[in-house]
Amino acid sequence: MHLTRLALTDFRSYTDVDVPLKPGVTIFSGPNGEGKTNLVEAVGYAATLASHRAAQDAPLIRKGADQAIIRAAISTSANDALVEIELNAGRANRVRLNRTPLTRPRDVLGVLRTVLFAPEDLALVKGDPGDRRRFLDDLLVAMAPRYAAVRADYDRVLKQRTALLKSAGPKGGPKGNRQSREAVTATLDVWDAHMARTGAELLVAREHLVTALRPHVENAYTAVAGDGRGPAAIEYKRSFESQPADRAATVAAGSAQTGSAEAGATTHGERVRAAEHALREALLEVRASELDRGVCLAGPHRDELELSVRGLPARGYASHGESWSLALALRLASYDLLRAGREDPVLILDDVFAELDAGRRDRLAALVAQAEQVLVTAAVPEDIPSLLTGAHYRVAAGTLTEAPDAT
Ligand SMILES: Nc1ncnc2c1ncn2[C@@H]1O[C@H](COP(=O)(O)OP(=O)(O)OP(=O)(O)O)[C@@H](O)[C@H]1O
Ligand SMILES: [Mg+2]
Repeated sequence: MHLTRLALTDFRSYTDVDVPLKPGVTIFSGPNGEGKTNLVEAVGYAATLASHRAAQDAPLIRKGADQAIIRAAISTSANDALVEIELNAGRANRVRLNRTPLTRPRDVLGVLRTVLFAPEDLALVKGDPGDRRRFLDDLLVAMAPRYAAVRADYDRVLKQRTALLKSAGPKGGPKGNRQSREAVTATLDVWDAHMARTGAELLVAREHLVTALRPHVENAYTAVAGDGRGPAAIEYKRSFESQPADRAATVAAGSAQTGSAEAGATTHGERVRAAEHALREALLEVRASELDRGVCLAGPHRDELELSVRGLPARGYASHGESWSLALALRLASYDLLRAGREDPVLILDDVFAELDAGRRDRLAALVAQAEQVLVTAAVPEDIPSLLTGAHYRVAAGTLTEAPDAT
């Protein structure tokens, strides 16, 4: 798929901008702070309903305005689509698809698919486990949008169960208006069941995804870092003990695509049920400490995606360049997985070349040059390998000017 147009109104630093886009490479260059990332951030938002660098929507609305609008026109081999997103300060956002308002904004997920590489990706390697869980969940939703609902369900259950645990108060603490432990325990049984059910679905999907992603990460790491620099490895680590049968089932079905029916409904169902059982048991085991501490101690919200390079954990051991290569490998692997048997997602490279040495730059350029559409930003156009030529816009003070020469 590719974008044919991106139009922004009061988004970040842009009052009004309307850019026609073509397949192939489009470069946005310009000095720091002129609005290059703002453009590609809008594209990412149209695909995922979230910014890759702001947790809230407020910073996306231009200072002084109370509404931002993103319009993205998308062309696939099957059809054309128009996604329109209205970001409202203090009110719910609104999404229209082909001019029809959507009751549930998340129904737009999957219409535009993107893979975005950005300097923030370094957090995938160096950041908290939460950054890596978000990476997996975002990819899961991009692969199969129905996981947006699974994720939202789990987050809701987790929040409510945590509130319940807190209401029990610490062991031996003053009673006050807190509920008695007996009352909380009875209600907890119900929440444990909810948590185990939604949690199992989420974590089995993540495990499945990691198995599918692994060979792509290994290949992409070698492709970016060069021969003999790897291997890089990824491993999903549950926050609680798994049943052996449950793990065997995960490995056996690992080659099938996430969310696809080919995995065999029974096999997938069995794996989810086994994980549900294991999580339920784990929750019973940690219940006393959960009540003491007022936090949920088992479940996919505490799982980890372990990354390693040459057998050493990436976090804390990998060099800066190795960490970058690994982050790139995770994104390239996502791209490989997302395009398998489907339309290419739109590839976005925000300021990535400046961080890489010449060899890595050229290898990355060679890998992405064949993509249906690549949007590239750079402060210094010379940082972009010559292999990536195409349309070129200069970005300055909220306006785009098409540069006559390619690169
Ligand atoms: N809500 C907003 N309203 C007005 N201006 C904003 C808003 N959010 C960000 N900006 C401005 O946008 C600019 C940042 O734009 P952007 O991040 O796209 O820069 P860039 O061209 O990618 O720069 P760099 O080369 O440093 O990455 C900053 O000057 C910032 O003040
Ligand atoms: Mg930028």
